[in-house]
Amino acid sequence: MTKIALLGAAGQIGTPLSLLCKASDLFDEISLYDIVHVPGIATDLNHIDTRAKVSGYLAEDGGLQKSLQGADFVVVTAGIARKPGMTRDDLFKTNASIIRDIFTEVAKTCPQATCCVVTNPVNSTVPVAAEALRQGGAYDSTRLFGVTTLDVVRASTFIAHALGEGADPKSFKVPVIGGHSGATILPLYSQAEPRISIESSTLAEFGGDEIVQSKKGAGSATTCMAYAGFRFVKALLQAKSGTPVVEEAYVYLPGIPGGKEVVARLGVDYFAVKVELGPNGATKVFDFGSLSDSEEKLLEVALKDLKANIQAGLAFMGV
Ligand code: LMR
Repeated sequence: MTKIALLGAAGQIGTPLSLLCKASDLFDEISLYDIVHVPGIATDLNHIDTRAKVSGYLAEDGGLQKSLQGADFVVVTAGIARKPGMTRDDLFKTNASIIRDIFTEVAKTCPQATCCVVTNPVNSTVPVAAEALRQGGAYDSTRLFGVTTLDVVRASTFIAHALGEGADPKSFKVPVIGGHSGATILPLYSQAEPRISIESSTLAEFGGDEIVQSKKGAGSATTCMAYAGFRFVKALLQAKSGTPVVEEAYVYLPGIPGGKEVVARLGVDYFAVKVELGPNGATKVFDFGSLSDSEEKLLEVALKDLKANIQAGLAFMGV
């Protein structure tokens, strides 16, 4: 019996993510939570011929608590999205309270769940979620992940686009470390597999700005984010069933084996890095190896921004 709770399911990431979960046939129960529309979305999804029973809960009448009851996995996409001219950090004021309230309830209702945060700014919302869980006596850093999978998906995709016709994005693997906004997203092209001989300047600009611009005020990445979020959820499920999987994610390093060594190298506690997933969450983080000179310089900039982002999240929670 596997249940996933999708919080923010009426949003433009949450709805396609709920479709991917329902279509996958990987779940017995899917609960949707949002402030509008989710009962109807649940009815709609229940006409799909897979076994998961989908329920929709609105905020009134304890809907958040009901949606979380018995959840093994929680994925949070709730919150507002960027418009042109905004950075992900501009979302913090609104989204931090949403994350705090959700994770305060997670701590009470499903403290054993494995949780994924998609809501931006991930660099700050994950520390907010961690502190809400900690203050609720339910924090285990091996089960809280900031989803940075879209950065990894993009790195492979942009290489294939740059190489031109016929290149299969899935045949390229590029580690992406750091965080999930602006300069903190650090793709390590020097470690691309197979090795590539294109300049990073020929790759499309990294991150979500291109989508924000082309949506002209209607939001940011939605379908590709749902795709990436689902890829991470699938990895968690595969790991839970006994096959370890390695994926990048933004995690609290000191609480995961191997993490303290990375903290000693970087001086930050939260960082996106390759993580081994096991049956109960993260079992190991991997050091990211040696960087090229230009990547070292980019890492310095990333760390400066990341420290400020983490601090913003912790300060919001009174830490
Ligand atoms: C993305 O990477 O596309 C998302 O984080 C959305 C955004 O604000 O860019």
